[in-house]
Amino acid sequence: MSIFKLKKPMSRAGKAESIKLPRHIAIIMDGNGRWAKKRGLPRTAGHSVGAEVFRKIATYCKNIGIEYLTVFAFSTENWKRPDEEVSGIMALLEKYLHEAIEKMEKESIRLAVMGNIEELSPKIRQLVNKTSQIAEKLNGFQVNLCLNYGGRDEIIKAAQKYAQDYRDGRANELTEETFAKYTFFAGIPDPDLIIRPSGEYRISNFLIWQSAYAELYFTDTLWPDFNERELDKAISSYSKRDRRYGGA
Ligand code: IPE
Ligand code: IPE
Ligand code: MG
Repeated sequence: MSIFKLKKPMSRAGKAESIKLPRHIAIIMDGNGRWAKKRGLPRTAGHSVGAEVFRKIATYCKNIGIEYLTVFAFSTENWKRPDEEVSGIMALLEKYLHEAIEKMEKESIRLAVMGNIEELSPKIRQLVNKTSQIAEKLNGFQVNLCLNYGGRDEIIKAAQKYAQDYRDGRANELTEETFAKYTFFAGIPDPDLIIRPSGEYRISNFLIWQSAYAELYFTDTLWPDFNERELDKAISSYSKRDRRYGGA
């Protein structure tokens, strides 16, 4: 159970203080390989446990009232990995997409896949199309699964689409608002909180455009060991921060 449901911190006056929940949480699900290595297991075993943790965290986010959860599942750079590992990850993603198609409506989870889908297998492309058809009919909690996603790639693609629209007379002056409409995340509020587990302190090409004013949270916990309590800690830290956006 969430501390946000059970134990609202008490102010000195004894009144429950309201916790400032992020609307949009983004997570770089990192550390699966190291988790497996520590146990003498193949890296894919880490990815498999990592996928379970993702399911659990998504349900938890929905239950505590988060509106958007964005997860980094496979980057445009992750193709550099051995074929065996890449196909293991793709198999897990395929499994998750199948499951989502079955459950999205019942569990009211709107799944959106963000990234360069055209480069994925025909099977995955077909499953992604099916999930977006289902998602169109749903409201409420949204999960954005970043798959073959790269922040720079997203910016280049957005710039190309804008340039084409400009040439065709469909676009005018380029502003931040117009540009955002050309990204994968058009219409979605920027992430409030970005979490990176596994003790790495970098963004690794995740949400380059959208992270301009995101609050960052790092933890040494490897993704397969991440859980609801860890998320509570991240939210609690977020809740105490003063977001100034350059103001005084
Ligand atoms: C994150 O875990 C999952 C993907 C990048 C697909 P890693 O596989 O990067 O795990 P580490 O960083 O090697 O431990
Ligand atoms: C970022 O993790 C990508 C995902 C979690 C999908 P990486 O493991 O690929 O990032 P680096 O190589 O440590 O920067
Ligand atoms: Mg990694």
